[in-house]
Amino acid sequence: MNWKEIYESRKCTADEAVQRIKNGDRVVFAHCVAEPTILVDAMVANAENYEDVTISHMVTLGKGQYTKPEYKGHFKFEGWFSSASTRGSIAEGHGQFVPVYFHEVPNYIRKGIFPIDVVMVAVSAPDRNGFCSVGVSCDYTMQAIKSAKIVLAEVNDQVPVVYGETFVHISEIDAFVETSHPLPEMVLPNICDVETKIGKYCASLIEDGSTLQLGIGAIPDAVLSQLKDKKHLGIHSEMISDGVVDLYEAGVIDCSQKSIDKGKMIVTFLMGTKKLYDFAANNPMLEMRPVDYVNSPVVVSQCSKMVCINACLQVDFMGQVVSDSIGTKQFSGVGGQVDFVRGAAMSLDGKGKAIIAMPSIVKKKDGTMISKIVPFIDHGAAVTTNRHDVDYIVTEYGIAEMKGRSLQDRARALINIAHPEFRDELKEEFEKRFNAQF
Ligand code: COA
Repeated sequence: MNWKEIYESRKCTADEAVQRIKNGDRVVFAHCVAEPTILVDAMVANAENYEDVTISHMVTLGKGQYTKPEYKGHFKFEGWFSSASTRGSIAEGHGQFVPVYFHEVPNYIRKGIFPIDVVMVAVSAPDRNGFCSVGVSCDYTMQAIKSAKIVLAEVNDQVPVVYGETFVHISEIDAFVETSHPLPEMVLPNICDVETKIGKYCASLIEDGSTLQLGIGAIPDAVLSQLKDKKHLGIHSEMISDGVVDLYEAGVIDCSQKSIDKGKMIVTFLMGTKKLYDFAANNPMLEMRPVDYVNSPVVVSQCSKMVCINACLQVDFMGQVVSDSIGTKQFSGVGGQVDFVRGAAMSLDGKGKAIIAMPSIVKKKDGTMISKIVPFIDHGAAVTTNRHDVDYIVTEYGIAEMKGRSLQDRARALINIAHPEFRDELKEEFEKRFNAQF
């Protein structure tokens, strides 16, 4: 059979496709924006037909219905990240969270630590040679397609064809469901005065010709907005969002001085709006590679003038960074934060920098303010970037350097960039904690 005949013979409805899922299977979804929503909805609608199906994936922007208690016995959620729609189930105890460095996920799949029975993906329409692109999510998705027993694909003509290691031949897919719908979008909050100040401090650490990694959240995008006067920046990043498009169009990002993958932005997934997805489509300047390449600390170490910018929730006096939990509540996941922090530290040119940036306080809904710089991390919180790895901490009040500094000096530097309302209280805590004068 030629590829067109294979395609026709495997075309079906979403309800038919999800009948390939069997009791006791582990089903993995493509990551983040690439979640095949039509297939996921069909799986949930057919919940009564399944017993004990485990659902695993990393970030989701989807509804996460399969995590709801009413599906107990049919689905159990075992996530590699905690997202808005899945967080509640983990907190309530019927969903599970599995800690894993993002760059290790393909290896876990290859080794069978994460065995996969069925993978559900979204792909572009096939090209004239019978290849579809997984578009916005290469990360672990490509390895999952190679390792899964069954591959179910939603063929969505709005999935952009993105270059790099994103192409799957029709013959590798077991069932096709045709659809046409826009990709999920992540619109970032407006950048305010605090984020602008943080962005300016971060920009002061970025030299012309640097290669950038940008993490999840409002802060990395705020940093991009402060880089308009830089020259010849490059991108080697787990993800990018819309801010990168503006800097490319302004001529700031040209990747001309990158030491590896020169002339190309290298990413493993995209999360933004249609503006980003349109930019990525058929763009020879941008390539997607698997996460075990992009996030590998060894690969990151080869990038010249590597600067990584990630966000966090809390930092203690020792420089322990909490980015994925609030007390015992699993808020997100390590993602690629530590992959890049370690890669920058190992940088072959000795110029790598790892910035963790955050507003100095968080305002709760009832108006109370909490300092994000604290003497001790919250009870039950997990350290994401540890005190041996931490490099620069930035708030709207300045930059605190951690490497090579004693615990007392770290705490002093951090208190000096804490919110002024909390500094006296923190100084008192310092004196108790270290038996020393501030
Ligand atoms: N104590 C209690 N609550 C806190 C808090 C603190 N110290 N700091 C933040 N919060 C709350 C906020 O109020 C907010 O609550 P809401 O959801 O009810 O509004 C929530 O936590 C998220 O905080 P916010 O600052 O808006 O997060 P963000 O969207 O900018 O994301 C991280 C920041 C740290 C959560 C995100 O970057 C992350 O998950 N990082 C880990 C993974 C990573 O870095 N990957 C990088 C490679 S891509």
